[in-house]
Parts: sequence; structure tokens; C-alpha cells
Amino acid sequence: MTTPIHDAFLIRGGIPLKGSIEISGSKNASLPILAACLMVDGPVRLFRVPRLADIDSMLTLLQQLGCSTHRHEAVASGRSFGPTLGGQLDVCVEDHHAVEAGYDVVKSMRASISVLGPLLARRGRAIVSIPGGCAIGDRPIDLHLKGLEKLGVTVRSENGRYVCESPNNGTGRLKGATMYLGGLHGPTVLGTINVMCAAVLAEGKTRIVGAACEPEVADTAAMLNACGARITGAGTTEITIEGVEALHGCEHRVIPDRIETGTFLMIAAMSGSSLTLKQANLDHLIAVADILREVGVSIVADADSQTIRVTGTGRPKPVDVATHPYPGFPTDLQAPMVSLLSIADGISVISERIYEDRFTHIGELSRMNAVIRKQGPSAIIAGVSGLQGTDVHAADLRAGAALVTAALGASGTSRITGVPFIDRGYEKLEAKLASVGANIERVDSQVSEKALSKVSVSIHDAARTATRSVVRKQVQAG
Ligand code: EPU
Repeated sequence: MTTPIHDAFLIRGGIPLKGSIEISGSKNASLPILAACLMVDGPVRLFRVPRLADIDSMLTLLQQLGCSTHRHEAVASGRSFGPTLGGQLDVCVEDHHAVEAGYDVVKSMRASISVLGPLLARRGRAIVSIPGGCAIGDRPIDLHLKGLEKLGVTVRSENGRYVCESPNNGTGRLKGATMYLGGLHGPTVLGTINVMCAAVLAEGKTRIVGAACEPEVADTAAMLNACGARITGAGTTEITIEGVEALHGCEHRVIPDRIETGTFLMIAAMSGSSLTLKQANLDHLIAVADILREVGVSIVADADSQTIRVTGTGRPKPVDVATHPYPGFPTDLQAPMVSLLSIADGISVISERIYEDRFTHIGELSRMNAVIRKQGPSAIIAGVSGLQGTDVHAADLRAGAALVTAALGASGTSRITGVPFIDRGYEKLEAKLASVGANIERVDSQVSEKALSKVSVSIHDAARTATRSVVRKQVQAG
């Protein structure tokens, strides 16, 4: 007998959700912050690090690199909604000798490259497997290496790995420098963080011009400053780092996950729901909130931006959106936004400016009766009056979020496979959704077809054909 693997979601859609959801700590801030612990002499205590597959991979890597890690049991906060999250996490470096992040870990999680800067800063050497292909497109690390070379690092590629060393065969200190870190697609988030980390223990002053402004960069800098680093300007396009000799332990609370928050905003809009999102930060989502309000979603935040009330009513208006580096509309929310606009009252265009191939969700949404055409790095979406639940597969994390968003708004039942991708980035997603009334179950992907066979087809082929011809005309008209 084989052990069932609960790797699929069964979602019966079309139910408006109501209630409060607690937003988790940010995955993309936690990952580089955990990597930065490698530079610290003394214990680091982190709060609100989400329990996710990617965080577990990073903790395994830190253990391989000589750290002890300890997750405390989460304490229920006394509130009356949703699952218990997080739990504090202690990290302490016990042994500074290991310097390699091997192929297995880098292949399973690209954010493993965040150990490059911290290892070079504190241990003088880092060997990181060269990241291979990625489901969301080409993801080079040339800018990371360029910035590190400016600080005096030598880089050579050897047997599929980058072998990097500080001066004098890894025994010398890095030297502060001024550099421009922008690339063809704009700034780099993890590249900025890698170079910023390396500069923290370098001799003298470093200026990173063209830095990524994402809140995750600022949060990593805040954690490093709490350890004694001297970083200013993080969260703007120019970061200045005055090198220090050593870092001491600290306590740090990770910022709210803005992408999880944005996903719940879109879920509410898609399913005509009324949700209150707590422990969030709407200040990190101004571009997203503006666009959602433009399409007709009501979003109201408390004065401190931490509690957000979102209400979706009726079909959204169509809109044109392009993804941009922060503070623009984030690429990580492009996929769920495509789901939302698939039921808009007209034609929308979403252009992807960061990862041109990040569109695996389009084919799956089309299986749910969405009418979407990919045109170069854009998706042209002719809104239909409703989606139809069916079997779909998530090929990456945010495509998975798009399918969950779509399934919650669709009529009938959807079975989403590829849930392990979703588990990489959304903490206790089904428990959070179930707590506000969603009909969602985690099942074995081999579950019988019975649930799906009950689905009734509600979208007329004629209407779809008509909408397709509108799209075709728009494409021909350029
Ligand atoms: N780029 C280069 N050279 C480099 C680095 C990046 O050309 O050396 C290009 C990339 O190909 C891309 C653009 O620059 O076109 C931006 O990439 P960036 O380096 O900023 O991405 P990242 O730091 O590797 C983080 C997030 C991603 C998110 C991007 C963009 C983490 C762990 N990952 O990746 O999150 O999409 O920034 O905002 O922080 C996700 O959470 O699903 C996810 C993929």
C-alpha cells in the first residue's frame, strides 16, 4: 500500500468569504535575514518567520554551514480567528568552517544564493552551485558577482560551481567600493542584499547605487543594524554601508508578507468576499491597492496600515497593468491579478517586465474557461462572466496562488495539483482560508474524479467565441 501524499487542493468555489486572517511574516525577507545570521557572532532571535518549505530548506542549509537552529512552539495569541502561526526562531553560528551551498539545495531553492555575501564577509570563501533553469524564466546572478568583485572578491567557475574568495586566498578583508548595481531588468533584490551583507564587514565605506528598494532589503538592513552594522538608505536606490569589524546577536521581528497580503486582497476581490487582514502593512502595497481600487475593490486600512478591510463586489472593471520593481506592481502578484482580471467586464492587458516567461498560469486558467492570449511578455485578457472549476496544475508558487484565487471565485469544484509549490510560499493557506468559510481540502492528487464530475458547465461556448474574436481584433490592431 502506498502512503497518500496530500499534494492537491480540492476547492468548491463561489462561496463569499467573511472574517479575519492574520498575515504571516515575509518569506522573502526571512530568507536573506536567515542567511545574514551566518555573519553574526552570537545568538539571533527572529519573530514571525513563517513555517514554509523554503524556510525549512534555508534552515537545513544553515545547519550544513555550522549553525544551530531552534523553532519554539507557536503560542496562540488569544485571538479568536485562524490558525496559530510562526513561533520564534533562534539561530546561532557554532562553527565557521563550512563554505559550500551544493547543487541539491540551490536547485531546490534559488534563494540559497543569499548565503554568498554573508559567507564571503565572515569566512572569506563561498562556493555556491551555479543556479540552473527556473520555471519563471532566466534568473542570472551576474549582478551579484559584479558587486562582490567590486569589493575585491575573486570569482571562478569550476565544475558547475562559483568558487568565490576574498583577497589573499580568502584570508584578507573585503574593501568598500562605490558601484552601480542596476541591470537590464532593473535592480536586483537578492543581489543588492548579497552585496550589502558582504560590505557590512568590509573595510571602509560602500555605496550601492541603483539598489533594489524592496521592503525586504530594508528589513534585512534593519536586522543587520540591530546586530551592529552601519547601513543607511536601505529601501531607497542608494545604500551606504560603513564597514564594521564584527556583528553581535540581536532580536528582530520580520515584516508582514506583502505578497501574501496582496494575494488575499485578490482572493477577496475574486470571490466577492469581505475580509479583514491583520498584522499586514498596506504601505508596502500602494501600487496594488491603487489598481484594485481602480477596478472597483474597496480597500480601507487603519491609520497604522496594519489592519486592512477588503470587500469585493461584482465583476472588476478592466485595467492595464505592468509589473515593475518596488514600489511598482510586483511581479509576484501578476499571476493572481491575471485570475482576477479574467472575470473583468472587458479587456485587460498585463505586461510582465521582470520575468518575461512567468505565465504558466495562463494555460491552466484557460482550462477554467478564462480567455487569455499571451502576446510576447504580455497577457491579453478578455473577461468572462465567471470561471468554471476543473482540474488544474500549479507549475510554480505564484501560478499556484493564481489558481487558488481563480478556484475560490469559480463555480463548481477545482482540483489543484502542484500544491508543494504553494507550500513554499503561503503559510497554512488552507487553514487560513477555511477559517473564513472557504470550502478547501488538502487531498491526495490521485483522489477520485467523482467530485469533479458533479460540476456543471455554465459558460456558453458562443459567448466565449465572441470574446475571443474581440481579443483577436485587438491583437491585430496592435
Ligand atoms: N537579474 C539579472 N542579474 C542578476 C540578478 C537578477 O539580470 O544578477 C534580473 C532577473 O533575471 C530579473 C530581475 O533582474 O529579471 C530581478 O531579479 P531579482 O534579482 O530582483 O530577483 P531575486 O532577488 O532573485 C526576488 C524574490 C522573487 C521576486 C523577485 C523580483 C526572493 C527569495 N525572491 O528574487 O520572489 O520575484 O525578487 O521581485 O526574495 C517569489 O517569491 O515567488 C519570487 C520568485
